[in-house]
Amino acid sequence: MKTFLRNEGKHGMRQTIKLTVNGASREDDVEPRMLLVHYLRDRLNLTGTHVGCDTGQCGACTVLLNGEAVKSCMVLAVQANGADVRTVESLAQGSEYHPIQQAFWDLHGLQCGFCTPGMMMAAVGLLKRNPHPSDDEIREQLEGNLCRCTGYQNIVAAVRTAADKMVSTGVGTAQSVAAGASGE
Ligand code: FES
Ligand code: FES
Repeated sequence: MKTFLRNEGKHGMRQTIKLTVNGASREDDVEPRMLLVHYLRDRLNLTGTHVGCDTGQCGACTVLLNGEAVKSCMVLAVQANGADVRTVESLAQGSEYHPIQQAFWDLHGLQCGFCTPGMMMAAVGLLKRNPHPSDDEIREQLEGNLCRCTGYQNIVAAVRTAADKMVSTGVGTAQSVAAGASGE
C-alpha cells in the first residue's frame, strides 16, 4: 500500500519551489499547504528541527530564513521559495561545534535536549543582529522558545558565553554556514 508523507494529500496540487537549504540548492514539488517544518523533516530528513506544538507556541521548530529566526511551523514551504534556509544541522563544521553548540554543552544549557535546536537557532539569529546582547536581550529573544527542563538560567549563560567567544575569535560569525543538508 502506498503511503503519503504528512501534509501531502493523495490528489493534492503541487507547486515547485527552489531554495537553498544549508548551502545546498533544492528544487522540489510540494503541496501549497505543506509547512516548512514538515518539508525540512519529511522531505529533506533534517530532523534536528523539532515539532513541539505545531501552533507557534514552543519554538522547537526555529530555523533561519534569510538570516532571521522563524518558527518553521508558521511558514509554508512555498513561502520559502527563493529563500536561504539554515537548520541546526548547518551549525557544526565537520567535527567542530559552532560556539553556540559548545557553550550549550559546556554550561549545561540542556537536559532532555528537545528544545535545544530551536533555542540555538533563535540564539544564532540574535547574534547575527546583535553580536553582544545583554542578558535581558537574550531573554527577550528567547521568550518564544519554551524549555520544560532547564529553568533558562544556563541557556542564557550559554548564549552569553557563545557571544563572547564569537566576538573575540570570529568563529561562527559568518555562519551559520556551510552545507549540511541531506537529500531525500
Ligand atoms: Fe513550531 Fe512549536 S512546533 S512553535
Ligand atoms: Fe528539555 Fe529544554 S532541555 S525541553
